[in-house]
Amino acid sequence: MTQLFPFTDPIAAETSPPKRFAKGDGIRVFDTGGKAYIDAVSALWCTSLGFTPDRLRCALDTQMQELAYYHSFMGRTPEITDRLAARLAARLPGALNHLFFGTSGSEAVETAAKFARYYQAARDKPEKRRFIAREGAYHGSGQMSAALTGLTYCHDGFGLPLTDVLRTGRPHHLRDAHPGESEIDFSKRRARELDDLIRREDPDTIAAFIGEPAMGAGGVILPPEGYWPEIQEVLSRHDILLIADEIICGFGRTGEWFACETYGIAPDMMTMAKQMTASVFPMSAVAMTDTVRDTIAKRAGDYGTFGHGVTYGGHPVGAAVALECLDIYEEMDLPAHVKSLEARIAAHLQDIKFLPGVLDTRCNGMLAAVEFETDGRCGPDLAKRIGQEAEHRGVFFRIIGDVLAIAPPYICTNDDIDTIMQTMSDAIREVTG
Ligand SMILES: Cc1ncc(COP(=O)(O)O)c(C=O)c1O
Repeated sequence: MTQLFPFTDPIAAETSPPKRFAKGDGIRVFDTGGKAYIDAVSALWCTSLGFTPDRLRCALDTQMQELAYYHSFMGRTPEITDRLAARLAARLPGALNHLFFGTSGSEAVETAAKFARYYQAARDKPEKRRFIAREGAYHGSGQMSAALTGLTYCHDGFGLPLTDVLRTGRPHHLRDAHPGESEIDFSKRRARELDDLIRREDPDTIAAFIGEPAMGAGGVILPPEGYWPEIQEVLSRHDILLIADEIICGFGRTGEWFACETYGIAPDMMTMAKQMTASVFPMSAVAMTDTVRDTIAKRAGDYGTFGHGVTYGGHPVGAAVALECLDIYEEMDLPAHVKSLEARIAAHLQDIKFLPGVLDTRCNGMLAAVEFETDGRCGPDLAKRIGQEAEHRGVFFRIIGDVLAIAPPYICTNDDIDTIMQTMSDAIREVTG
């Protein structure tokens, strides 16, 4: 094996190598044997416009001919990157107004964490440097972004800076609510637990709380009623920044341009990537409010520079692709388009809900999940067996413990959604007999 593969057992891969893909066509990918698969989770929740988006290829090609690379360091920047910043700033939710560009989601989270500490130090609160993150969260694979991640398999063996992170409960009403506890009461309890944690650990040592508006890799956990208003009230009372990690949710996934709009979140910073370029070019960004930007800028002015940046940040080719994505999303009337496909997914889930072994179905925009019983009457590893059966039938879902995640590309037709959801249904029936 010449590659060490991410999130793969390397020893198992020696005898069972990864499936190799050679071609794409719209929402389908083809393995080297020619078998076609619909990727019903947009690969890594990211290929919103499929695997062969012509317009993005043209945008990329045109920009390559104009200016294939330039940086944004020390008083220079590609004109097109500046244009993207202005266009995005006009789209950002709430008080977010400024952008800092990077190349990957993990890097955006690393950057947001660094900025949170810089901001607190610039306000003469250098002791406010720890973070709060949730169990089950996924925030990336860098040192701090992996430490913020609340999935222990991302920590094992790496010696991450875990002492910088305080952990609080995930908003999973289905699994974590007390018997008879309503969604609203559960949300209030999560907020009380957060408040207790902050008081116990000392608010003057905590820089920021980070959360995915709807959790993805932790099992598609949609926030229960009242969750985000309750959490935000606690954070603002203790003067703790809120970082919304929109790396999966951003650009339409939950049925609004950003999930902060879906759930009424007013963050101080927001990370975005993936669907920003439909993932055909690696690009990410951190958005921030005037207050965060101005506080950072003033301190950086005192130092004489802002000592942070990466070679490929704000890449002009990425900017061209992102601008074309914005055009496409606007032309498709993104929120309305996603909501119309959401209705199609939700209609199928109404039936799937009553199939054997199914514990729950949920859907917000084009982010959906079927959660299965754990060791119920249909036996162990039900989601895994159903996911494998669906793959055999030519549709990829993401298997996450007892959950099968669904996040199809936005270019799906109603017929594509029917094929995806019928395959889910058929696979469940097949496996549960
Ligand atoms: C919410 C969230 N944050 C951060 C990341 C990390 O992004 P990347 O894989 O681009 O580094 C991911 C990746 O899936 C994610 O889902």
